[in-house]
Amino acid sequence: MGYNLLKGKRGIIFGALNDMSIAWKVAELAHAEGATFTLSNTPVACRMGTLDELSQKCNAEIIPADATSVEDIETVFEKSMEVLGGKIDFVLHSIGMSLNVRKKRVYHDLNYSYLNKTLDISAISFHKMLQVGFKMDAIAEWGSVIGLSYVAAQRTFYGYNDMSDAKALLESIARSFGYIYGRERKVRVNTISQSPTITTAGSGVKGFDGLMDFSERMSPLGNATSEDCANYCIAMFSDLTKKVTMQNLFHDGGFSNVGMSLRAMTQYNKSFDTDDIETLD
Ligand SMILES: NC(=O)c1ccc[n+]([C@@H]2O[C@H](COP(=O)([O-])OP(=O)(O)OC[C@H]3O[C@@H](n4cnc5c(N)ncnc54)[C@H](O)[C@@H]3O)[C@@H](O)[C@H]2O)c1
Repeated sequence: MGYNLLKGKRGIIFGALNDMSIAWKVAELAHAEGATFTLSNTPVACRMGTLDELSQKCNAEIIPADATSVEDIETVFEKSMEVLGGKIDFVLHSIGMSLNVRKKRVYHDLNYSYLNKTLDISAISFHKMLQVGFKMDAIAEWGSVIGLSYVAAQRTFYGYNDMSDAKALLESIARSFGYIYGRERKVRVNTISQSPTITTAGSGVKGFDGLMDFSERMSPLGNATSEDCANYCIAMFSDLTKKVTMQNLFHDGGFSNVGMSLRAMTQYNKSFDTDDIETLD
């Protein structure tokens, strides 16, 4: 059942690749909640064709853009305002990619040109969107901008590689720009730190299945799914959260505040024989 939480709101959703993408779920729900919006992804991703299905379902125009290109982002904002008929109320940045991860370069043997790309695609593009939106005065007062993050920004996770650095930068940009955008235009900027989720980007992380299972056992409420994440994004785009800004909001079933859980400990203990367990007491 919809609540019409986004009735009359205009948005831009970056990063829907296929029906597993978090951005895809956000788009479906934003549509159900009464929003109109445009969709954007790289020209290659747009050509792959799956986005057409979402576009038709949500009656949303696709505007291809490489999120590292300021010019492309300007085009997205310009065209979106034209198509939607006014300033933008919400923006979702659901973009992440690491060539070091893809090419299996470990963190102590990074390729620095890949690192620059990781940071540019996964974090600096967030700044670029905010700066373009600010300079064009394209985001309406009380508008809401969300980027998606992961707890590896705060704590080290094996295999997350240079994406940890990208997420730390993403969260920092939300604070730094959030201050200015709030002060000058009453626009809020936040990141949502999501549980591990099975998507194309998520599955690229080394040992992802183990990480999902560990995280599920550690979180008192269990992992948050992409549908759960979409619900949270809609709440953050709605007028019900007008005074929330400059935050990194954990959306992880409680994972980030747990050191060790009963379920994780039980599984961990299975790897010891009985004598070993006794010595642990
Ligand atoms: N899946 C997880 O476990 C998880 C957990 C926490 C946070 N996140 C974050 O959620 C966001 C969305 O990822 P997802 O899991 O839905 O995976 P996904 O693969 O569906 O989405 C990633 C998107 O980034 C886009 N992209 C890559 N390079 C781009 C560029 N240069 N310009 C524009 N778009 C580009 C891809 O085309 C794709 O649509 C990412 O920021 C990711 O880091 C994911």
